[in-house]
Amino acid sequence: MELQLKKSTLRPWQPGDEPSLVKHADNKKIWENVRDHFPHPYTMSDAERWVHHASQSLHDTVFAIVVNGEAVGSIGLVKKEDVYRKSMELGYWLGEQFWGRGIVTEAIGAVTQYGFSSFDIVRIYADVFEWNAASAHVLEKNGFLFEARLKKAICKNGRVGDVFMYAKTK
Ligand SMILES: CC(C)(COP(=O)(O)OP(=O)(O)OC[C@H]1O[C@@H](n2cnc3c(N)ncnc32)[C@H](O)[C@@H]1OP(=O)(O)O)[C@@H](O)C(=O)NCCC(=O)NCCS
Repeated sequence: MELQLKKSTLRPWQPGDEPSLVKHADNKKIWENVRDHFPHPYTMSDAERWVHHASQSLHDTVFAIVVNGEAVGSIGLVKKEDVYRKSMELGYWLGEQFWGRGIVTEAIGAVTQYGFSSFDIVRIYADVFEWNAASAHVLEKNGFLFEARLKKAICKNGRVGDVFMYAKTK
């Protein structure tokens, strides 16, 4: 699976991506907005583990965001289970030097379309930490609706915060 977009290419993670992954993922400003299983600091062994896992097991749902031949971010969908089996959760991050160019706005549009057309799902959702206005904005620009504010739902970096639930349904 490869999606050629105007501002980036989305393709599976592959061996060789590790150095650019470390370069762009090792950033506290990214870590503050994602879950704690995203490492900080982000080391070469973290990158090796991720590329191995993603290229083997997630190749049809999680993609490197490639700009100028370099993997500079990630975007993907995680299939939910049990009664949530018709839902997928969307997640993404981008290297800071590429922020503000519309790259993730475009990528969310493509991945959402891909998700609805390739999997037996009716809902794609994303959790946004209350301080992450940029992420809320990229979802809104793609037609995701603000559904709920989950009060005190997370603890990140020692700070308890609310979560904004955004979703798009088919
Ligand atoms: C959130 C993130 C993915 C956005 O990626 P991006 O490619 O820079 O996003 P885009 O350029 O497509 O769009 C960003 C939009 O947010 C807006 N924005 C940026 N900072 C903002 C802020 N503090 N408040 C409100 N809007 C903001 C930009 O103006 C832009 O909107 P516009 O095109 O209408 O002007 C990126 O900043 C990132 O990786 N952040 C850290 C990790 C993260 O937050 N992951 C998501 C977890 S839910």
